Amino acid sequence: MLKNLINETLVSKKPDIPIWFLRQAGRHIPEYFEIRRKETNFINFCLNEDLIIKSTKLPLKYYDLDAAIIFSDILMIPWAMDRNVKFTKSFGPSLKPMIPNETKILQNVSINTKLKPLKNSIRFLRKDLPKSIGLIGFAGAPWTLASYMIEGRGSKDFIETRKALWSSNKWFKELIETLVIYIVDKLEMQAKAGADILMLFDSWSHMIPSCFFNDYAIKPTAKIVDILRSRKINVPIIGFPFKAGASIIKYSYESKVDCISLDWSVDLRWAIKNINKNIAIQGNLDPVSLIPLNSDSLREKVLNILDVMIEKRFIFNVGHGLTPDCKINNVKEVINIVRGYNRKNS
Ligand code: CP3
Repeated sequence: MLKNLINETLVSKKPDIPIWFLRQAGRHIPEYFEIRRKETNFINFCLNEDLIIKSTKLPLKYYDLDAAIIFSDILMIPWAMDRNVKFTKSFGPSLKPMIPNETKILQNVSINTKLKPLKNSIRFLRKDLPKSIGLIGFAGAPWTLASYMIEGRGSKDFIETRKALWSSNKWFKELIETLVIYIVDKLEMQAKAGADILMLFDSWSHMIPSCFFNDYAIKPTAKIVDILRSRKINVPIIGFPFKAGASIIKYSYESKVDCISLDWSVDLRWAIKNINKNIAIQGNLDPVSLIPLNSDSLREKVLNILDVMIEKRFIFNVGHGLTPDCKINNVKEVINIVRGYNRKNS
């Protein structure tokens, strides 16, 4: 099982390589739109237990997977902080932008109360799903959440966020520290409700100037892990420093995560050589490889990844979320390749 694989101490024999996909629930499965139609407001969708449960289970109906990721969004923390989060079709998320030096960074938000439907859904799902399926809870990392909160939307280069960082470092630090608290609360709540694994998405970590990477990606992550451990939350934690380049070396040693999720730009042989050997690795297949109807290199590339990773604690996954135009048959094909490889090598 995924959890055991990450927790080395629990592995008695060489485990099979498990498989799941980032953004496995969502728009590449046509049936998602039928569920989605029941609630057009995406925030309300993420607060509706019945719809959370249906969406989380949806990919398991189509695919033989080792994990389900709870259906929610990283922007539910800014929503809980009253940042007026909205999702607009073909625009994406929008929020009330934070102004640097804004004195009132919301304190005393009860994540437990505001995100109760998330907690209840995890409770239900952990009882409902087979034990062999890992249930993954998640949160956005502080830098990534701060980026959306300052920018007020997605961005190509997050200039406003970097401006805030350079012009008002003290304020920026305070914002990050506040987010650390809410992220811990959200992750703790999910683990206590039954999530077996937690994942921290730092989707915009590649926007952090390298001289600040330690302060705004590594240290806050380590702090989140430390606080969770001090609260007796012992489930494995996966970190995802998306496209952070060579900074992932230090991240792998110092962020205290148990597993690192790698994007498609990372050479796996380089990763094995350079990153912390005591943590598990996940990811790396380019999700775009799952779009073409007839890819002549998909099988070969999947097998390459498996061959490189066979002796490692490795979770097969994509290097970023599945796209809406990804093909169900390609996802099935990749799963078959991984299952066949496991059978051959067991
Ligand atoms: O299978 C799953 O992963 C589902 C759960 C999930 C969602 N968002 C659902 C979602 C997870 C783990 C996320 C994480 C998330 N959300 C991230 C980190 C991962 C990454 O992609 O880097 C980020 C940056 C977000 C913020 C976000 N949410 C954006 C930018 C958007 C709009 C762009 C888009 O892809 O539509 C969302 C909306 C969103 N979150 C959708 C889903 C299924 C699409 C909503 C819809 O229209 O139905």
